Parts: sequence; C-alpha cells; structure tokens
Amino acid sequence: MLTMEIAGLKLKNPTILAAGFLGTSASILKRVADSGAGAVTIKSIGPEPREGNPNPTVLCWGEGLMNAVGLPTPGYKNMTREWAELKDISVPVIASFYGGSISEFVEVAEAIVENKPAMLDVNIGCPNTKKHGAVFGKDPETAGKLINKIKEVAGSIPVMPKLTPNTDNMLEVAKACVDNGADAIAGFNTWGPGMVIDVNVRKPVMGFKTGGISGPAVRPLMVKGIYDLYEKIDAPIVAVGGIMYGTDVIEAMMAGATAVEIGSGIHYRGIDVFSKACSEMEAWMKENGVKSLEELVGSAH
Ligand SMILES: Cc1cc2nc3c(=O)[nH]c(=O)nc-3n(C[C@H](O)[C@H](O)[C@H](O)COP(=O)(O)O)c2cc1C
Repeated sequence: MLTMEIAGLKLKNPTILAAGFLGTSASILKRVADSGAGAVTIKSIGPEPREGNPNPTVLCWGEGLMNAVGLPTPGYKNMTREWAELKDISVPVIASFYGGSISEFVEVAEAIVENKPAMLDVNIGCPNTKKHGAVFGKDPETAGKLINKIKEVAGSIPVMPKLTPNTDNMLEVAKACVDNGADAIAGFNTWGPGMVIDVNVRKPVMGFKTGGISGPAVRPLMVKGIYDLYEKIDAPIVAVGGIMYGTDVIEAMMAGATAVEIGSGIHYRGIDVFSKACSEMEAWMKENGVKSLEELVGSAH
C-alpha cells in the first residue's frame, strides 16, 4: 500500500531519514532502516575534515528544535570505512554533501559517486556556517550552474538539491535546478536562523548564537512551500520539515510531495517514528478508501 518510486528509486514506504540528524555511522543508520524507514540519508559530507560549531549546538526550545551543528564532517577522504559498512544497510542510502565552491561540490560528488549511493542530496541550504551551503541556494543562476556540473559527474545516480527556504528566490532556485537536470527537489533545510536567549545569563544559548529551526513549529511553513513548488516545477518533491505523524505525511503529499524526510520527529517520537507514521498512514488510507499514494500527491490543489 505504501510502496512508491521517486526519480527511479523504489522505496517500500515514503519516509526517509533526513540528513544530519543521526550522522554518518552505519550502525545507527542501520537501526533506522531496521525500524521502518524507506531510505536513509547520511549527514552531509564535506571536502575537508571540519569540527563544526562550539556547543551547545542543538536545543529543544519547546515548539521545535534549533540547531547550529555547523556541518561537522570527517571529509570525503576519510569515509572509506563508513562506505564499506553502509553497503549492508537494507534500504537505499542517500548521500548528502556540500562544498564551499562549485569545484569543491564537484570534487566531493566525484568521490561519493564511486561508492554508488542511491541518490545524491545536494545540500545548498545550510544556514549554520559562514562559508558553505545557503549561498548556493539563494541565487538561481549559481544553483543552476552547480546542478549542471553535478549532473555531469553523477552518471545514472539521481540528483536532488535540498533547498533553503530562507530566500525570496526559493521557487526560482528550484526551477533553475530542474532546468539543469535535477531529478527531484527536497524542501527544506532549517528555517531562520533564529535565536533563544537564556534570561538568567542574558546571553544567546547556542554556541553559534543563532541556529536553524526545525520540528513541529515549521510544518505549516513547509506545507506552503511544497504547495508552491508543486505549482511551479515539474519534478518529484520530497517534503522535509516538522513531519512526525502519518497525517503529517499525508498533508505534505496532498500539498505535492511524493515522499517525505523525517529528522526532528525522531526527537519527539523515537527512532521508530518511521514505522509509527507508516502505520498511521495505512489506517488513514483504509478509513478513507485510498488505495495508493499516487491518489494523494497534489490532491489539495
Ligand atoms: C541536528 C541537525 C543536523 C542537521 N544536519 C544536516 C545536514 O548535515 N545536512 C542537511 O542537508 N540538513 C541537515 N539538517 C536539516 C534536516 O535534514 C532537515 O532539513 C530539517 O531539520 C527539517 O526537518 P525536520 O523538522 O524533520 O527536522 C540538520 C538538522 C538538525 C536538527
């Protein structure tokens, strides 16, 4: 009932682990796969080893999470052991990555492609570093050029840029990516950035002072973004932002998503949030006489 296909990738259900929440280590990603996710995304890999930002880097502030992890990475050259172990995972493994320039993105993509991940998730939307990420997601021309170059090295592996919502140009960036060959579009990376101040010490809580917002607080923003994307672009859409219940997945699909990613939902509902959301979807579909996911995609338009 929940099987589906996105950009040639066949999944047993439409729930995918979002990049970053659980790192790159195969043992934890295996647990996510075994607990019901349709696919898993590894934390974004960068060109060089990077420590990320000072602690605290993740905060649950009540209605959502705030993070400024800052893209810590072992660097693609130090991933040999991880890649070997990731091969044992029972569901498709999507590789997220980033660079500080088009040539760095391409360099990392070339190395990743050798390990044959199921899909390339191009992180053009991280708000938590000074140099990387979001700059590529804010300018349609730059984003288009980047995707064009990545498609040249991707071979048959589908390419999915992951957008930042933090720009007036979001729809134009998505269109430029699709016009340059993107096989799917993921929306969105975290929102903001925001800030939380500890009133007792009169200082921002996060080590980086600011952080990207995720979790339940951003879900209506995400839904509107997906709705707009569905009207603008001709490519499958993966929704990400605040999804944790079966009806959240269904809502995102009605807005136009073919599949969804879940990150913060793990904090709220546990590592088996994927199987919980799937059971809830199946129950809703039965109750409402819906036989396949295709019936849902874009049905709110
Ligand atoms: C702790 C943490 C680390 C993250 N790391 C990455 C990352 O490495 N690459 C990326 O593209 N997105 C990263 N994200 C963003 C998530 O993949 C996702 O887009 C965002 O959290 C919204 O989804 P959610 O509300 O389900 O968490 C991270 C988010 C969090 C909370």
